Amino acid sequence: MANSPSDAASDPASAPASGAVPETMRAVEIAEPGGPEALRLTQRKTPRPGPREVLIRTAAAGVNRPDVLQRMGLYPPPPGASDLPGLEVAGEIVALGADVTEWTVGDVVCALLPGGGYAEYAAADAGSCLPVPEGIPVEHAAGLPETFFTVWANVFDDAGLSPGETLLVHGATSGIGATAITLAKAMGAKVIATAGSEAKRDVAKTLGADAVYCYREDPWEEEIAAAGGADVVLDMAGGDFVPRNLACLNPHGRHVSIAFLRGADAPVNIFTVMRKRLRLSGSTMKARTLKEKAEIAQRLKENVWPLLESGAVVPVIDRTFPLAEAGAAHRHMEDGAHVGKILLKTR
Ligand SMILES: NC(=O)c1ccc[n+]([C@@H]2O[C@H](COP(=O)([O-])OP(=O)(O)OC[C@H]3O[C@@H](n4cnc5c(N)ncnc54)[C@H](OP(=O)(O)O)[C@@H]3O)[C@@H](O)[C@H]2O)c1
Repeated sequence: MANSPSDAASDPASAPASGAVPETMRAVEIAEPGGPEALRLTQRKTPRPGPREVLIRTAAAGVNRPDVLQRMGLYPPPPGASDLPGLEVAGEIVALGADVTEWTVGDVVCALLPGGGYAEYAAADAGSCLPVPEGIPVEHAAGLPETFFTVWANVFDDAGLSPGETLLVHGATSGIGATAITLAKAMGAKVIATAGSEAKRDVAKTLGADAVYCYREDPWEEEIAAAGGADVVLDMAGGDFVPRNLACLNPHGRHVSIAFLRGADAPVNIFTVMRKRLRLSGSTMKARTLKEKAEIAQRLKENVWPLLESGAVVPVIDRTFPLAEAGAAHRHMEDGAHVGKILLKTR
């Protein structure tokens, strides 16, 4: 099975600058759509970087919910991307494409990928890479790109959350939720979150959330509205949560959808939208163009990397599994007891 178009490249212009890259590498592939057992350790041809790509010798890869959906056959990789799962890695650049000028061999980076992260080597677009922030272990940096790109693009670029405004985020202890809480707090916003259990509610408070509701019990939309409402909702729930989100949004509120764990169809009262002048939007990170991803990376570098380097934002890491135990990592994510990011150590 091919890894990606870039790994088949025999174009000398894109040949690795380093001689130390092996012909093959260990990787985890999806043998066939199914459960965690479908993830199989295999040997693949090491990718070669395309003209605008770098080749990263990975230290670790992040595990994300979209990987689980891909494994189940519900979220295929975009055209041209590796069929291997894995949307983010961190490690050392060992080879450069002919048109890459902003990185050099030896740079230690983390990168957002359209796929191919569950492997010892990954080819990444040069614009989707960021330096590993000073003070952050390289393995932990593998868990930064997917959630920080997604939260930044949706909460700050799209919804324009400003200091002093209130963000409501569901899935408080998820990779996305933990990033949204810590980042929005560091950017001067108030954060309200929901979680599925008392224990997760307590954890979300330690992450910095100002108020946390247990969505299985509290009439959270009424309590949030009574306490001053939300200006932005980052929604991964969809379904029946959408009218409840709209009910507690303030006038000129912004509702951004990034998933629909409770259902893709949601009843929306148009008069509520009109009366409060609400804005509803949504996106998927995978489908964004490389240019868009490079622009988000630049804004992260300017606005968020200094917060990571100063310790104002600390990545929330749950647990690290060896690459060969990717199935166990997926099982752990599906059990749902994790807090923050699950990682795979690829060395
Ligand atoms: N659009 C994009 O660009 C984009 C990018 C990355 C991720 N995503 C999506 O964002 C979501 C979070 O990703 P992740 O990697 O952070 O996943 P994750 O760590 O597995 O978190 C999933 C969270 O969803 C909550 N949840 C699950 N079922 C729920 C339900 N029925 N009602 C309410 N909450 C529910 C869980 O909270 P409790 O355990 O507290 O119930 C859990 O914290 C995923 O759905 C993922 O596909 C979208």
